[in-house]
Amino acid sequence: MKKLLTSAAVLMLATTAFAADPAPADLRANALEIFKALPSTTPAVANNPITPDKIALGKALFFDPRISASGVFSCNSCHNLATGGDDNLETSIGHGWQKGPRNAPTALNAVFNVAQFWDGRAEDLKAQAKGPVQAGVEMANTPVQVVATLKSMPQYVEWFKAAFPAEEDPVTFDNFAKAIEAFEATLVTPAPFDAFLNGDDAAMTAEQQKGLALFIDKGCSSCHAGINVGGEGYFPFGLIEKPGADVLPENDKGRFAVTNTADDSYVFRAAPLRNVALTAPYFHSGKVWNLKQAVAVMGTAQLGEELKDEEVDLIVAFLDSLTGKMPEASYPVLPAETDATPRPSG
Ligand code: HEM
Ligand code: HEM
Repeated sequence: MKKLLTSAAVLMLATTAFAADPAPADLRANALEIFKALPSTTPAVANNPITPDKIALGKALFFDPRISASGVFSCNSCHNLATGGDDNLETSIGHGWQKGPRNAPTALNAVFNVAQFWDGRAEDLKAQAKGPVQAGVEMANTPVQVVATLKSMPQYVEWFKAAFPAEEDPVTFDNFAKAIEAFEATLVTPAPFDAFLNGDDAAMTAEQQKGLALFIDKGCSSCHAGINVGGEGYFPFGLIEKPGADVLPENDKGRFAVTNTADDSYVFRAAPLRNVALTAPYFHSGKVWNLKQAVAVMGTAQLGEELKDEEVDLIVAFLDSLTGKMPEASYPVLPAETDATPRPSG
C-alpha cells in the first residue's frame, strides 16, 4: 500500500506528522529560525556601559519609594520582582490611589524588547525609566525633585560617584535612568525553552514541544518571534476580528498616539511572552485573567480561527516553558534620609 501513495500525499502526511509530533531536532532547527535563546550573561546596552557599581545603584533606585512624590511607590511596586516583574492588577494603581489606563508589563527581560511600553513609545530602558517618575498616575514626581532627594543622602552621592567615576556632578536624572537600565539588564530569566533551543531535548516535555510546533504552525510566531517571543513588532489588535470593547477599550488607540497615523489605530506591540504564565491579567487592558482564554482571544482576533480546546492546552503548555529562573532579588538596604530630604507629598 505504501508504494501507492503519491508524493503529494506523502508530503501531506509528513506535514501532519510534524505538526502533531515533531522530532526534537527538526523542531529545534525550525524554532531557531524564529526565536533566539537568552544569553547566559548580562547583555550590553547601547550608550551605557554596565558595571557592578551601576547595577548596584540601579537596584537601590528600583526599590526606593522615595523617588515617588508620595514616598509610597517604587518601580518594584508595579514591577514586583517577587511576582513575575509586574503587579498582577488589571491596570496599575499609582499616586493617590489612582488607577492608570494600562496593565503593567513585566520588567523581566524588558531589555530585549525593541522598544518599551505597549505602544513602543520609549526607545529603550533609559528613556522608559524617566516616564513613570513623572507620570501623574504613577509616581507624580519631577526630575528636579528626584535629584534633590538623591543629593540629600550622602550615601547615594557616593554610589553615583562610584557608578559614574568620570563625571564631576554625577547625580543627574539621566544617570538615574542609566543606572536603572543597567539593573534591569540583569533581570534575565533563562527558561526550559532556552535549554531546549540550546540542544537539550528533555528540557521541554513532549506536550510543550507539540505546543511549540502548533505555536509556529498556527502563525502565532509570525508576530511573537525573536528573543522575547514578542516585543519586536507592531500589529493591529483585532487584525482579523476586533475583540469587544471589554477587552479592547475604544479610548486607547495604541500606537496611533505615538505616530498620529490612521493605520496605527489600535496597533500595539506584540506582547513579549516570556514568563507570561506569571503575569495575568492579560492584554493592555488587563481584562483577561486566564491564559487559556487569552490564547483563544488571540486565535479569533489575530488568526481568525477558533482554536480547539486541546490546541489551546498545548499552546499554554508551551507558554509554560517560557517561565524562567527568577533573578536573585534580595531587598537592598537604602541610604538613610537627612533633614534635607524632601518630605512626601500627596
Ligand atoms: C511599563 C519599568 C515604575 C506601571 C514599564 C516598562 C518598564 C517599566 C521597563 C515597559 C515594559 C514593556 O514595555 O514591556 C519601570 C521602572 C519604574 C517603573 C524602572 C521606576 C522608575 C512604575 C510604577 C507603576 C508602573 C510605579 C505603577 C504605578 C507601568 C505601566 C506600564 C509600565 C502601567 C505600561 C504603560 C504603557 O504601556 O503605557 N515600566 N516602571 N511602572 N509600567 Fe513601569
Ligand atoms: C498579546 C498569545 C497570535 C499580536 C498576546 C498575549 C498572549 C498572546 C498570551 C497577551 C500577553 C500579555 O498580556 O502579557 C498569542 C498566541 C497566538 C498569538 C498563543 C497564536 C494563537 C498573534 C498574532 C499577532 C499577535 C498572529 C499579530 C497579528 C499580539 C498583540 C498583542 C498580543 C499586538 C498585544 C495586545 C494588546 O494590546 O493587549 N498574544 N498570540 N498575536 N499578541 Fe498574540
